Order: sequence, then C-alpha cells, then structure tokens
Amino acid sequence: MEPAEFWEQRYRTHRDERGQVWSGRVNPAVEREAADLTPGSALELGSGEGGDALWLAEQGWSVTALDISPTALAVGAAQAAARGVADRIAWMQADLVTWRPDTEYDLVASAFFHSPFDFPRKEILRRATRAVAPGGTLLIVGHGTPLPGLEHDHGRQHAESGPPLPDPDEVLADLELPADWVVERNAVVSREAALPDGTTIEVSDTVVRVRRPA
Ligand SMILES: C[S@@+](CC[C@H](N)C(=O)[O-])C[C@H]1O[C@@H](n2cnc3c(N)ncnc32)[C@H](O)[C@@H]1O
Repeated sequence: MEPAEFWEQRYRTHRDERGQVWSGRVNPAVEREAADLTPGSALELGSGEGGDALWLAEQGWSVTALDISPTALAVGAAQAAARGVADRIAWMQADLVTWRPDTEYDLVASAFFHSPFDFPRKEILRRATRAVAPGGTLLIVGHGTPLPGLEHDHGRQHAESGPPLPDPDEVLADLELPADWVVERNAVVSREAALPDGTTIEVSDTVVRVRRPA
C-alpha cells in the first residue's frame, strides 16, 4: 500500500464516535515549547487532524497545517470552524516527500512525524529548516520510545513498525544546521500515555527546538 493510501485509510477507518482519530488536544511538548514564543506565522508538518495547529491558532498564530491525508485535514477544518479559528488556519494537502518550502515562517513545528514506511524523514526535516524565517524557531517532537499496542495520550494506536526512532542528538545532527543556529532544547521528556485498558504508563518524547539567527 502507498503511504498516502495508508494514512487516508487510517483516518477514515480508525475514527471514534466523534469521527476523529486523535483527541484534538495540543501535544504537551508543543504547548510547553511554544508557550513563550511570540505568535506569528507557523507551519505544522504532518499536522494530522490539527490538535497542535488549532491550539497555535487559539494562541494567535496564523497557521498552515500540512498533511498527506485529506480526511485528517477535513476533520481539522471542521474543528477550526467549531472553535472559532477557521480564519487563522490554512489546511494544505501535500506529500512531504516531494514538498519544497516556498516561503518562511516564524515557527515550523512537527510532532510525531513518524510512519511505518521507510521514508526520508531526515531529509524532510532538514528541508524544513529552509522554511524557518530569520529569528524563527524549528520545533521537532518525536517518540523517544516505541509504543507497541498502545494508545498515546492524544489518540489511538501508533504505528509499531517503521524506521528506528532517533534520539535528540541524532535529530540535531541530521538537520546539519549552520553553526550560527542556536539549540534551545535538546531533551528527552517523560509523559503519561494511556493504554487500551485505561491505565497509564510513562513514555518518553524527544524534543528539539532550534532558533535561526535574526
Ligand atoms: C503519527 S501522526 C501525527 C499527527 C499529529 N502531528 C499529531 O501529533 O497528532 C503522523 C502524521 O504524518 C502524516 N504523514 C505521514 N507521511 C506523510 C507525508 N509523506 N507527507 C505529509 N504528511 C505525512 C500522517 O498523515 C499523519 O497525520
């Protein structure tokens, strides 16, 4: 199956009674890291149904939410209308494998951009650095540990297979940043994740936040 078909099918068939795969809530690491930034323009890569994009818009950001799945984006757009931020989010269907940045943003964010497919994640994130405006921030949140058979706290089961999960040092190295970019966060952080039986366990996320010089 092709990645586009896989993700579209996932968003069509894994919905809960609300018609959503994810909770619609912001990822805790994104909330923490973006809280002290001055709202401006933001690009969310692999936005899914837009839990982070919706929150950013509610904080005053003007957001472009990009994902490969039209169904995920349609869910996000409906949520944006319901939450009164439809005019602050542009929903863009694109495949990041072929995507090339054509403008710059004050914040480029990516949360849990993982896939069961062998895909060029490093190259995509490296390319994302070119979409960061002078003085802007690149924020990359990822799984630090695989979540087999587990629901993470904003949604349903995460893909179990796929390429190995990089630690934050590897994410940073893969970005091949110019020497004058500032590393503001390079961390592994814990959070609680819900198991299918309703209990919770502690999992780790990787957080990389870098700033382009003004
Ligand atoms: C694990 S989900 C994370 C979604 C969201 N960021 C969140 O935290 O809830 C990964 C997302 O990446 C998207 N994705 C995977 N491959 C992609 C690609 N090649 N181009 C664009 N989006 C892609 C999927 O459709 C999915 O929404």
